Amino acid sequence: MCGIVAYVGPRDAYPILMKGLHRLEYRGYDSAGICLLNHDIRVFKCKGKVSDLEEYLVGKDISGTIGMAHTRWATHGEPNQINAHPHFSQNKKVAIIHNGIIENYSVLRSELKKRGFHFTSETDTEVLVHLIEDIMTNEKVPVEEAVRIALNQVVGAYAIVILAKDYPDKIIAARKGSPMVIGIGKDEFFVASDATPLVEYTDNVVYMNDEEIAIIERKAKLKIKTIRNKDHTPYIQKLVMSLNEIEKGGFDHFMLKEIYEQPRSIRDSMRGRLHIDQGIVTLGGIQNYEQKLINAKRIIITACGTSWHAGLVGGYLIEDLARIPVEVEYSSEFRYRNPVISEEDVILAISQSGETADTLAAIELGKAKGATVLGICNVVGSSIARATHGGVYTHAGPEIGVASTKAFTAQVAVLTLLSLLLAEKKGTIPKSQFQKILLALNAIPEKVDRILKMSEKIRDIANIYKDVKNSIYLGRGYNFPVALEGALKLKEISYIHAEGYPAAEMKHGPIALIDEHMPVVFIATRRGIYNKVISNIEEVKARKGKIIAIVTEGDETVKKLADHYIEIPDTEEILVPLLATIPLQLLSYYIAVMRGCNVDQPRNLAKSVTVE
Ligand code: M6R
Repeated sequence: MCGIVAYVGPRDAYPILMKGLHRLEYRGYDSAGICLLNHDIRVFKCKGKVSDLEEYLVGKDISGTIGMAHTRWATHGEPNQINAHPHFSQNKKVAIIHNGIIENYSVLRSELKKRGFHFTSETDTEVLVHLIEDIMTNEKVPVEEAVRIALNQVVGAYAIVILAKDYPDKIIAARKGSPMVIGIGKDEFFVASDATPLVEYTDNVVYMNDEEIAIIERKAKLKIKTIRNKDHTPYIQKLVMSLNEIEKGGFDHFMLKEIYEQPRSIRDSMRGRLHIDQGIVTLGGIQNYEQKLINAKRIIITACGTSWHAGLVGGYLIEDLARIPVEVEYSSEFRYRNPVISEEDVILAISQSGETADTLAAIELGKAKGATVLGICNVVGSSIARATHGGVYTHAGPEIGVASTKAFTAQVAVLTLLSLLLAEKKGTIPKSQFQKILLALNAIPEKVDRILKMSEKIRDIANIYKDVKNSIYLGRGYNFPVALEGALKLKEISYIHAEGYPAAEMKHGPIALIDEHMPVVFIATRRGIYNKVISNIEEVKARKGKIIAIVTEGDETVKKLADHYIEIPDTEEILVPLLATIPLQLLSYYIAVMRGCNVDQPRNLAKSVTVE
């Protein structure tokens, strides 16, 4: 939440910062602001999106070769100009941008007020910049030392960048709990919340660790120390990301592009892991933990949102194929409910961004209790990837649309591989079945491609239902998580109330909602609990509900019952989520577009939730 970008070097900072802000806008879009430094230090900010800031800046002095910029997802204080970042210190000589939450801000605020500081905003961030000024003035220390001392008084999460008028060639950056990456070019440095703002300038990057402070000086070497004043040698890594991956490539929205990328992204998530010719599965990142997994008394999957839905599919897969008990937990609940965890447990944390605060906290809890903690992440070098003992990257490529699509199918593909690997090692499925599933899995990308070709039909259905106020998504077995995911996609981007439910549970309550105005989306594929789902469809039909069904190609029974149907190719029951999710993503997308919603940046949401 909140995007941060900063630059120092020989070029004009403004275009680099604005382009960077556009790329980071998925992290929050309540307000935006910029700070530029040459003879003086100038801050410009406004409510709204990055494009509003660009408009606001027309005719203003935007010169300078050092600067920083911010796009905000509001936590403390409403989204308005005053609360927008950057924030100045009282003497207007120091400015800050911040992503995170200062938890002890009200104590610090009261103390600073007593010392004569006046606050202009309602943010927690302003406290930190006044504190830095206070330390610089009273202790007569340079800005980097004042930042270090201040951070020792702060409780909470932060990624911050500081610019100071008296240090016109210096950027100070620090992180704890919120991501921060530094790009190193020739005589220039970039700082950002993720690598997207710097991809076209350099592929040398340093991912900052918690409690590190970076002192970045024009034409000098990057220095990193901890908030306890210990020097760290920067670990420079090669960035694996291309410009193509983070641009829309001719699509109207990132979400649509990412939906259409799925034949490729699912294939990439299995590349070098699914060896069809040898009939085996390998997962390098967890090789050292295979035995631990095989002997695990229990696997706990922890995640949030869409990743939690992938975790539910994973739970079904692991129990079904590898016969290991699995519990699937919302990270936000798990971390606070004193769970029973032992050293024989393996925790699997799933996260697209690798930055979700609740999932990170669940990981720390698991580690503290002695469990082995493995990650399934999309973003390489992310906090979760680094905090876990081992793990598997999903390799879906950057996901920019706030609504997760290709990350979900890549997570499910990786969880399928993991379940198959464990099942094969444990001997819990017959060899012939194992081989059959491998072949079916290998055919999934091509089948996804076929579903994508049905977009016209899905658009027509979207047009019929675009104005509804409520909807229900029902599925059973492997299709239950698909129903939850379909409902989440619709509500988050179109703002239509949608409930995902296990189909058979409908009669225990939600059936009361059904009348001729209620669309009910059934994931009613032929494998699995098919006949019972047909009974559930009949129950809805008897109450005049409108039925949209996802059916297996060639199915005639459900087609006859449904008002509308979308056919998907047949596959093994355990692989259906990889296919059935696709038409639901498209349905939500088209409905949201027809309703005039901003699908890539839905209201109130942010792509990576780095606050609790
Ligand atoms: O980055 P993560 O996978 O940890 O994010 C978890 C959720 O915040 C995320 O899936 C969210 O629910 C998306 N908006 C879903 O589309």
